[in-house]
Amino acid sequence: MKTPSLSPSILSADFSNLKSAIETIERKNGSFVHIDVMDGNFVPPISYGQPVISSIRKCTELPFDVHLMIERPEDKIESFASAGSDFITFHLEATKHSDFCIQKIHSLGKKAGIAIVPSTPVSALEELLPLVDLVLVMTVNPGWGGQKLIPYCVEKVAKLKKIRDENKMQFLISVDGGVNSSTIESVINAGADVIVSGSSFFNGDLKWNIN
Ligand code: DX5
Ligand code: ZN
Repeated sequence: MKTPSLSPSILSADFSNLKSAIETIERKNGSFVHIDVMDGNFVPPISYGQPVISSIRKCTELPFDVHLMIERPEDKIESFASAGSDFITFHLEATKHSDFCIQKIHSLGKKAGIAIVPSTPVSALEELLPLVDLVLVMTVNPGWGGQKLIPYCVEKVAKLKKIRDENKMQFLISVDGGVNSSTIESVINAGADVIVSGSSFFNGDLKWNIN
């Protein structure tokens, strides 16, 4: 995988034509399809779930980067794995059992990601960092596309990169929220490996000249 890589979020796509949204992602060199699952509980909106993931699974070979914004992710990991997820990322704040979730995801042969909202410090992840394949740093409060990036969250990316490099860990650092042509450079400079983009990718505003 080339880094940084792009993971466009279909949350900002036209839900009546997800096949065409995925074709756009392929044409514009996306490396993943980012799929935001919201349960109306961890975050107010409800987006889509396992049936939609299984249905779009046949549209592409690109890996599915599934971002679970749901309470008690431990109860749903199996069904998201069988729906066709490749990376399953859950929120540290949504469960008391992050270690269990990571083990469960790995036991199903999937990559495990852990996400943190803006108010959660990197230090809360300390023991988990050697265990995960990806850390998703939210640079907006979760729930909606099209928000403005919160600058202090970008500092968390640099902190994570430092910890990873000093300790020879392996996890990818993903940045999610408010990435557009004006903010992408700061996110890449901080050390992001995977860049999630919803609204600015689908409205054609994201300039992606990195590859
Ligand atoms: C927000 C989601 C994001 C969202 C990003 O809760 O996790 O993935 O789609 O959208 P933009 O790029 O518009 O901020
Ligand atoms: Zn997301």
